[in-house]
Amino acid sequence: MEEKMKKEEIVKKIFKLKKEKDVVILAHNYQRPEIQDIADFIGDSLGLSQEARKVKESVILFCGVHFMAETASILSPEKKVLIPDLEAGCSLSDSLTLHQLKEWKKRYPDAVVVTYVNTSAEVKALSDYCVTSSNAVKVVNSIPEDKTILFGPDMFLGAYVSRVTKRKNIRLWAGECHVHSAIKEEDIIRAKSNHPNARFLIHPECGCVTSCMVDAYDRKKNDSIILSTEGMIREVEKNKEGEYVIATETGILHRLKKISPASKFYPVSEEMECNFMKMITLEKVLNSLKNDVYEVKVREEIREKAIIPIERMVSIC
Ligand code: 13P
Ligand code: SF4
Repeated sequence: MEEKMKKEEIVKKIFKLKKEKDVVILAHNYQRPEIQDIADFIGDSLGLSQEARKVKESVILFCGVHFMAETASILSPEKKVLIPDLEAGCSLSDSLTLHQLKEWKKRYPDAVVVTYVNTSAEVKALSDYCVTSSNAVKVVNSIPEDKTILFGPDMFLGAYVSRVTKRKNIRLWAGECHVHSAIKEEDIIRAKSNHPNARFLIHPECGCVTSCMVDAYDRKKNDSIILSTEGMIREVEKNKEGEYVIATETGILHRLKKISPASKFYPVSEEMECNFMKMITLEKVLNSLKNDVYEVKVREEIREKAIIPIERMVSIC
């Protein structure tokens, strides 16, 4: 009871300060339920980047991880971008450093570099195209077929894109997300036997994605679909009384349940929690608003290069 009152008090203060200081709150689909509930906009990496460009408020409070706040700052340099905790990083983004990308490029000087949005601003600045899980196939299909592609950092998303586009000239970086890579074929098999009538919505960063694709594409079954987080939301919106196994970070279940209360959702594993995403709490959001911390700003010389691959992506999708 006391806890509930404390929470209500914090939320009240957040709304008051947000208005006074002309702040918009953007939150990723993996955020804690109470953070999603105070957000002005919830979405996937692509949706959040697009929203960051459109918002009218002078301050963006980004409830997500560091690379997402950086992307917002790249796209809206005139705005102040705040993140409630600077330690909210991303294991996938850390798996491809600027130095590693420079060395990789030296080995393939004529290749086109395609990197996932889960990368630092410096890595984006050295890339030709940026992609998110919802548009990677489309972006890769837009690149001339004879061009070698260096795709990073997520090897599972890369394997998925290679298979769908049927391109043989995609070189994959061996990076992964510690949350999604842990999901193996056995987890899917177990969930299938526990929920035989459910549809499987699988994020392409999952370690099971190659085997799941055999089901989804090669055998022309449609009980497993590979989707970005926002793609999952759209899929569930189509059928208000479905049964789904969700193979991605469990934070998304809050939004899915709100959208479709009559549907049944089962996480493929309760352990799929991103410790970085969960660093953002109501207390930290309030602190952020009170003290105007922590600002995420990309240096202009990096920003002007990093925006090019992002704009190329946005113009294709
Ligand atoms: P989405 O772009 O699908 O939201 O994915 C972002 C992410 O960090 C996945 O782990
Ligand atoms: Fe990064 Fe994985 Fe967390 Fe997404 S779930 S933010 S890819 S560590």
